[in-house]
Amino acid sequence: MVKMHPGAGPHDPQVVVLFGATGDLSRRKLLPGLFHITQEDNDLIPGCRIVGVSLDDMTREEFVQFTHDAVHEFYSRELDHSEWDEFDDWLDYIPVSAGPEALAAAVARAETQLGEGVRRLHYLSVPPKSALDAITMLRDANLIERSRVIMEKPFGTDLESAVKLNEQVHNIFAEDQVFRIDHFLGKEPALNILAFRFGNGLFEPIWNRNFISHVQIDVPETLGIEQRAGFYENTGAYRDMVVTHLFQIMAFIAMEAPTALEPNAIREEKNKVFRSMQMIDPSDVVRGQYSGYRSVDGVDPESDTETFVALKVNIDNWRWAGVPFFLRTGKRMPEGQRIVSIAFHEPPQSMFPANSGIGTQGPDHLTFDLADSAKMSLSFYGKRPGPGMQLDKQSLQFAMHDTGLAGDVFEAYERLILDAMKGDHTLFTTAQGIERLWELSQTLLDSPTPVRKYEPDSWGPNAIHQLIAPHAWRLPFEREWRDPNVTGE
Ligand code: BG6
Repeated sequence: MVKMHPGAGPHDPQVVVLFGATGDLSRRKLLPGLFHITQEDNDLIPGCRIVGVSLDDMTREEFVQFTHDAVHEFYSRELDHSEWDEFDDWLDYIPVSAGPEALAAAVARAETQLGEGVRRLHYLSVPPKSALDAITMLRDANLIERSRVIMEKPFGTDLESAVKLNEQVHNIFAEDQVFRIDHFLGKEPALNILAFRFGNGLFEPIWNRNFISHVQIDVPETLGIEQRAGFYENTGAYRDMVVTHLFQIMAFIAMEAPTALEPNAIREEKNKVFRSMQMIDPSDVVRGQYSGYRSVDGVDPESDTETFVALKVNIDNWRWAGVPFFLRTGKRMPEGQRIVSIAFHEPPQSMFPANSGIGTQGPDHLTFDLADSAKMSLSFYGKRPGPGMQLDKQSLQFAMHDTGLAGDVFEAYERLILDAMKGDHTLFTTAQGIERLWELSQTLLDSPTPVRKYEPDSWGPNAIHQLIAPHAWRLPFEREWRDPNVTGE
């Protein structure tokens, strides 16, 4: 058999113990992702069994049916039904109420089927308050040896709870067994930021305060809260998206060149960015809540939870002093986008007359679109054909789609689960990094700015414009991305 992804998977067979197995993330991403990476054709893992665990009192058969439905609904590739028939034999299920002995017995059964050298991967897809119960159950089931544990964010809800959680985790697992997942870092286009920055000589010399005026990281979502009110009410947009995903992407944009593509080197450079960040100042933060949120089932009718947040971040080091990073994310917004936009300084003087169009469409930009299939664009002013000297914004664009390789893209969870199985920490966050981010957030968490209402399908409360002035938000785009399938004349 041809190896499709040589060296991409672990050498040892794996038993995955999936806590929160019947939850939303498991249904949409983890079970379909495990299905994909265990396919024989991919030749990624020498053998795998999955033991689902959750509070639901289900039988194994019911869990197999649940997984079947999840894979059929959410698998992003073409499904070969014979592959499914094999996969369902690899599944088992233990309700939490059955206790640690039952879990130990299920894992032992799975290990017997897999033979020698089996490793365990525990995936805690549970809210922070349940993470400890899951870890305690694993300890009582004697499943700590030969194991690694993936923890879902948020890692605590503030500095104190994060420190406490880390201490409690460290009582049971050594730090090198712990993988704190931030799925944005497993997205192919996020990794492409590293390739782009450190694989080329062209942009790195201008990647600093002398050339860059400001940076935007903008992740609007059209989704509302749906069935997640219980989680979201206690979390809100800042903890759910900013402390985790947006700050992590910011670190990829802002960090110095690591000495090697190797976990410690990359994590150290990211942590240096976090150390250089200034405390988040509440007056640099706009919190919003969409009209109608308070009537969602499970939401407090007087809820103060933000479903939108925009903020300005300052990184106080030689490369970035004076270059604001503007971050924005929210639910029920008009478009789902994941954009990083680097705005370059405008020329110091213009020879073009005021009515030539110069500067009317913002400064020149480098834009990364972190959609599943990556796109990038470099926009600049150029001459409009014809008489006179009119300038238009034009752009060079790249779409992964054009390469014909878009189908090879691994989903973030697939890649990160494989990395954790291999023991590779490169794309996972450290206890130290997380604690620093909570520390920087403490003033805001202690005295949050009031939430302002915004209408669903809008870009957030009006105050976002003051926050970014004299600049402007890139989204909504004035020009569409070119459709890669359509060739111009
Ligand atoms: C999750 C958040 O971590 O990321 C969700 O909890 C959010 O609220 C999601 O919708 C966005 O991730 P993606 O990959 O769907 O853009």
